[in-house]
Amino acid sequence: MKVTKLKSLLIQIFKKKGLNSSDALISANAIINAEMVGAYGHGLSRLKMYCDRINKNLINAKPKIKIKKISPSISFIDANNSIGFVAADIGIKKAIENAKNTGIGLVAVKNSGHYGLSGYYAEQAVKKNLITMIYTNAPPAIAPHGAIKSLFGTNPICFGTPTGSKVPFILDTSISMINRGKIRVAARNNQKIPEGVALDKFGKPTTDAKKALSGVQLPMAGFRGSGLAWMVDILSGVFTGANHAGKVKDPFDNFTGPQNVGHLFVTFKSNLFQKNYNKRIKENIRITKRLPKIKGVKEIMYPGQNKFRRFRENSKKKINIPKIIKKDLELLLK
Ligand SMILES: NC(=O)c1ccc[n+]([C@@H]2O[C@H](COP(=O)([O-])OP(=O)(O)OC[C@H]3O[C@@H](n4cnc5c(N)ncnc54)[C@H](O)[C@@H]3O)[C@@H](O)[C@H]2O)c1
Repeated sequence: MKVTKLKSLLIQIFKKKGLNSSDALISANAIINAEMVGAYGHGLSRLKMYCDRINKNLINAKPKIKIKKISPSISFIDANNSIGFVAADIGIKKAIENAKNTGIGLVAVKNSGHYGLSGYYAEQAVKKNLITMIYTNAPPAIAPHGAIKSLFGTNPICFGTPTGSKVPFILDTSISMINRGKIRVAARNNQKIPEGVALDKFGKPTTDAKKALSGVQLPMAGFRGSGLAWMVDILSGVFTGANHAGKVKDPFDNFTGPQNVGHLFVTFKSNLFQKNYNKRIKENIRITKRLPKIKGVKEIMYPGQNKFRRFRENSKKKINIPKIIKKDLELLLK
């Protein structure tokens, strides 16, 4: 399906669910971007879930979002259980504005929901020549080191910087071995997941996606990954006033209330300390990329390059819509 056609269908669906035109467009764009960069677990595969939660009033289709100015650099947003895309859109735009005015922007968001890909918001800051760090917490998926019950989400860590070229450096990674969206897609399509990424509910290693969803996912790098997940939970949950310590609700399975996800957006001018930042980062990347390569490796890439290329290639093509998603779209358009 052509991107333009898909976009108008998504806008139609979100408007039917009660979102205003602007919020419907913001949500449609974020979902399409996830498809274009190949992050299928954060794109169309979640559309039905968002709509189900709107139907149950767990996502507020007409939120009254409050933005409190704490200082010219710092803002605090109560998203009133809006769809996460809308809360994050306001959050990153405010953080960019604050950084442009003062050099640094810090924005905390509470009462939000799943916002998709952190990198999507990081790109917006990087395009304005800002460095950014973005955090969001997520429902329990990972057991803290030493525990047998999951508590932390796959809590992505995101860092973005301008590079002096049009391809931004964006490190945007779940702290799990693989992200939960991929496991959900595998479970829906009856596919296996790789070894070493999850345990079943009895603590046994599994490659069965459904068993992994009811068990625990493994953090990257053992206790180090568990520590990073905890850090993200503190920054985006404890610090912001959002749910934390395992209380963020799973958007697919838990309909007992709004998710109350928290986000933290940090943005700052790249030339605060060195006027020639762009020259310095270019040199940094040039030196790194010129290193001798392991046999079979064609190129040393920096984070974000792969997604930038995928986006560019996919922009030339139509979006492939799996049968199961076509069914969702048909139902939601009825
Ligand atoms: N909203 C949420 O609750 C939530 C939770 C978890 C993850 N996510 C999102 O899911 C997305 C996917 O996460 P992921 O962990 O699967 O990412 P990933 O494993 O695909 O990539 C992680 C990082 O590694 C970089 N990378 C990949 N291959 C590389 C290579 N060969 N050389 C150099 N760098 C390379 C990527 O550019 C990226 O920055 C992220 O955008 C994340 O924000 C969202």
